[in-house]
Amino acid sequence: MLPSRTRQHPLVIASNRLPVRFRVDRDRIEVRPSAGGLATALGAVRGDALWIGWPGTVVPERLRADATKRLAKGNFVPVFLSANEEQDFYNRVCNDTLWPLLHYFGDRLRITPEAWQRYVNVNERFADAILEHSGPDSRVWVHDFHLMLVPAMLRRRAPNLSIGFFLHTPFPSSEVYRLLPAREEVLRGLLGADYVSFHVGDYARHFRSSCLRILGLDSQPDAIEVDGRRVGIGVDPIGIDTAGFHEVLADPETARLVTQLEEQYAGRKLVLGVERLDYTKGIPQKLLAFERLLERDPAKAQTVTMLQVLVPSRLESPEYVQQRDEIELLIARINGRFGQPGQTPVEYLHRDISKQGLVALYRRADVMMVTPLRDGMNLVAQEFVLCQAAPGPPSRWRGSLLLSELAGSAQVLPGAMLVNPWNADGVVERLEAALELDVSERRRRLETMAKRVEALDSKRWADGFLTRLGRFSRRDRRRKPPPEVEGEVRERLLRRFARARSRSILLDYDGTLRELEPHPDLAIPTREIRALLRQLAALPDTDVHIVSGRRRRNLEQWLGALPIHLCAEHGYLAREPGGEWQTLLDLDLTWMRPIERMLRRVAADVPGAHVERKSCSVAWHYREAEPEYGSWRARELLNDLGQHLAGAPAEILQGHRVIEVRARGVDKGVYVRHVFPDGKEPTHFVIGLGDDRTDHDLLDALPSGSIAGHVGGLLPSTRAGGGARDHVHVLGPGEVRELLRDLAAAVTEPTAARATS
Ligand code: UDP
Ligand code: G6P
Repeated sequence: MLPSRTRQHPLVIASNRLPVRFRVDRDRIEVRPSAGGLATALGAVRGDALWIGWPGTVVPERLRADATKRLAKGNFVPVFLSANEEQDFYNRVCNDTLWPLLHYFGDRLRITPEAWQRYVNVNERFADAILEHSGPDSRVWVHDFHLMLVPAMLRRRAPNLSIGFFLHTPFPSSEVYRLLPAREEVLRGLLGADYVSFHVGDYARHFRSSCLRILGLDSQPDAIEVDGRRVGIGVDPIGIDTAGFHEVLADPETARLVTQLEEQYAGRKLVLGVERLDYTKGIPQKLLAFERLLERDPAKAQTVTMLQVLVPSRLESPEYVQQRDEIELLIARINGRFGQPGQTPVEYLHRDISKQGLVALYRRADVMMVTPLRDGMNLVAQEFVLCQAAPGPPSRWRGSLLLSELAGSAQVLPGAMLVNPWNADGVVERLEAALELDVSERRRRLETMAKRVEALDSKRWADGFLTRLGRFSRRDRRRKPPPEVEGEVRERLLRRFARARSRSILLDYDGTLRELEPHPDLAIPTREIRALLRQLAALPDTDVHIVSGRRRRNLEQWLGALPIHLCAEHGYLAREPGGEWQTLLDLDLTWMRPIERMLRRVAADVPGAHVERKSCSVAWHYREAEPEYGSWRARELLNDLGQHLAGAPAEILQGHRVIEVRARGVDKGVYVRHVFPDGKEPTHFVIGLGDDRTDHDLLDALPSGSIAGHVGGLLPSTRAGGGARDHVHVLGPGEVRELLRDLAAAVTEPTAARATS
């Protein structure tokens, strides 16, 4: 193992694409630079960060050690993909499903249900690699649509890790996003981060609206509250490596190439296009506009040349090959129609070009046409501006930028000549105007844009992102997560449980014993859960308690036949096995009737909203109402309730698209104190498990010497609880059940339990 593999890095970057990619030729590995905005912008700012990514091709087993060693020199760690993974994860899900979806290409959307599991698995592999290289103080920065499940996977396994996510593509309107079969899973995946950020405000707005419409999660402009955590939502427009470009501009090789271009295009105007070969870039539409320009004025063929650089991309996909063929045919047609011997109106390069070659082209171009049909940002536009504005020979302020209003960069480059790429006549008019623009106007526009490009610099982008990540993750990081119930911690727990004279197990239900469902009525206890509870209750001197916020009717129907204790409505009602329900508090409920009337009046106005009456609370649910109207009325209602309840012994609780008014003084701690009025005997073993904030009351009230189990993302509360408890962390309901099974086995078959744990 290489030394770097065991080090914990302060900053770990993860993206599918590394700045380098491999080509394997029998036993030789060739290393090349990667194309595309992510690799170029991020490559410049990574500093000492460790960067985890895919080496770009299938690397055979026998070459992997060598490949790993070569990548380690650049601080890169590979995640190797098999041919099947490359096909399902990269080609099918990333390129055939997510890429067209995120860019509004519904007609190109292809969904292969069988491939999705591979996306999940590869995301898990990235999460494994990240965790292997990060420690409690690391910051993890996950990039782009290939790894959208990674933040939640990391959060589950390292609840306190600082995790940021940046999307390099657009985030579409929720109306388009909702087409994705795994839409909930992906949103939840992203919300595992502390901070999720986008190029421009529109994408952030679409993301928030998708969270509302698909997950029912309300948000503030800069954050979403989920599972008791606050996830920051931000806008960090990416920029280019300005210092790197200035260096290339000063390189004598660049100057030589510029001179060469000056000679090559002497007396001609150069219209330049540079993009990866991708259907989102609108290259055929651009060529058609150029053809139309020549139709209008065929003489232009003698004075204007269009040079299209097509950087090869994703040619494994038939879609991309087809796009290349279409472009080549179009170019042949235009040249056939308007060319002369020795005069080719459209020139075309289908290859990567050197940095110097690229900069020389930017410098020489008269018009840069950046006309994507959709683009997250588009760095080519920024690169052109910087190169045009830089001082030095032969002349600056030469060119004009024609920019699609559907590229993110249109929102950050005031001064560009904006076009709608679908409006062919409009593009032709703008192109004509751009070719004729007088020098003072060109200069004025370029100067304005150049200031913005310098300000957007990729280094500043990275610093800004990481500062905001720090702000959002700091809050939770002050609280240390308890140790996992694994290894020695688990062994000790099982031993204590097995040796105890008597035992109590207190379990929250939703999200702790049973996975959450989109609707609470669906979270029925499975046969496995019922058998497990029965098995636990049958252990000698052991009692089992379900401590839930649900109504008594729910618990009675689902679990009433089991020999266990039930507590409903957050501690207000309790029932011994098979016994009668009793209230645990004497409450003043006179406020309830008028409040219920008020809630019913508002519910009648809001289609989909309904009122639920419980024993000591009344709730206004708006989960099924139109989300934005529902949220608006909810805000209004909160205001009114606050005024009506002034001085009443009731409190307002805001839940997941529900507003509940509950008698003051009711919480799960009431029940725990009812069960253990005098603390517990030293030989009695008590464990409580819970996953959301209402469970803090349960865990904090456990008697001294108990075990407090924090499930999922729940961190120990900051309140000073009475008495010393051992805190442990359990990943999720599946792991809770596994732990409970092991506890039972530790009593009934002690040796077997030890062998398996
Ligand atoms: N680029 C490249 N290889 C080339 C030509 C250009 O990697 O042969 C770079 C270009 O300099 C730019 C990036 O590719 O930084 C393209 O980024 P953009 O944001 O414009 O589009 P993306 O390819 O990411 O969709
Ligand atoms: C876009 C994506 C990047 C990707 C790049 C090149 O910029 O946002 O994540 O790396 O295109 O695509 P590729 O499939 O070659 O990585």
